[in-house]
Amino acid sequence: MLRSSFLVVLLTSLVLLLLIPRSYSSEINVTQTYPSTKFEYALLEFPLNIQYLVAEFFLIGAKGYGLDAFAPGLAQGGPPPIGGQKANLDPLTEDLTLQSGLALIGRLRAIKRAVKGFPRPLINLNKELFAQIVDQAFGQPLNPPFDPYANSLNYQLAAYITTVVGPNIYVGIIPKLQNTESKELFAGLLGTASGGRTSRRAYLYERWDSPVPPYKVTVAEFTNRISERANKLGMEGIKSEGIVVSPWNGAEGKVSGNVIEGDKYSLSYGRTPEEILRILYGSGNETIPGGFYPHGANGHIAQYYFN
Ligand SMILES: *[C@@H]1O[C@H](CO)[C@@H](O)[C@H](O)[C@H]1NC(C)=O
Ligand SMILES: *[C@@H]1O[C@H](CO)[C@@H](O)[C@H](O)[C@H]1NC(C)=O
Repeated sequence: MLRSSFLVVLLTSLVLLLLIPRSYSSEINVTQTYPSTKFEYALLEFPLNIQYLVAEFFLIGAKGYGLDAFAPGLAQGGPPPIGGQKANLDPLTEDLTLQSGLALIGRLRAIKRAVKGFPRPLINLNKELFAQIVDQAFGQPLNPPFDPYANSLNYQLAAYITTVVGPNIYVGIIPKLQNTESKELFAGLLGTASGGRTSRRAYLYERWDSPVPPYKVTVAEFTNRISERANKLGMEGIKSEGIVVSPWNGAEGKVSGNVIEGDKYSLSYGRTPEEILRILYGSGNETIPGGFYPHGANGHIAQYYFN
């Protein structure tokens, strides 16, 4: 039922394109490079939501200030995020985090070269939200509540949460794209997004059997719980895996170390925009905003469900 709703969007867009003479159908500014359908446009702009979220999380976590300081204007007038703060990071983790944040600015620019995009949605980076997500993942309140900004390990675990849909969005969208330039763009985004995600998984894997102080939970268990929560909210089966899995779920069914997340052929999982919204809203429902996007995500796809 939910899956078919996306089909409805697609079909509606196509019907509209057929009914409305081309010259009147361009209230959406599709640049000359992308003379494609509204559907393609909607797919191209959608990942901006995730890029805004993760860019702000990394930039503010590393430096205490975000996009509006690093790249004035890129947010297109969207409201500043709430609740983010400079994390208490060691120099290496701060360096890695800043690299990721700056790379996200580049990727925001890349999509906005192709489509006009939309203003930054309201983004919630409150530590209480992370604590709530972690409590939900463990099925019970942690005491004291999880603090994403307390130290480098906690911050990398929080990064595991904000990037849990990681490269999935690009893997999910690429097969739906028609235009060669769109595919080139998304292939490039996929490469760097999965590089970022995997580098953080490797950081956590080096510490997989260490506890996450003050809790008696290992880093590996933590990642498993966060991934399970994402799978449950996404409602499309197992597409996110922790950094240590049962050997039969590892590469070639032979290893339990799972730095590189993938299916039985070690291919990346794809997710639809709807799955992404269900997970990042934390509601399990693409029509009910919340979580990182208290007022909902932006763009045609998210707004279609929200309004
Ligand atoms: C469409 O958007 C591009 C990039 O934002 C801009 O350069 C161009 O002038 C716009 N075209 C129209 C017709 O608004
Ligand atoms: C999602 O929310 C809408 C509106 O509240 C509701 O009609 C729909 O049944 C919900 N879907 C699921 C799967 O819970």
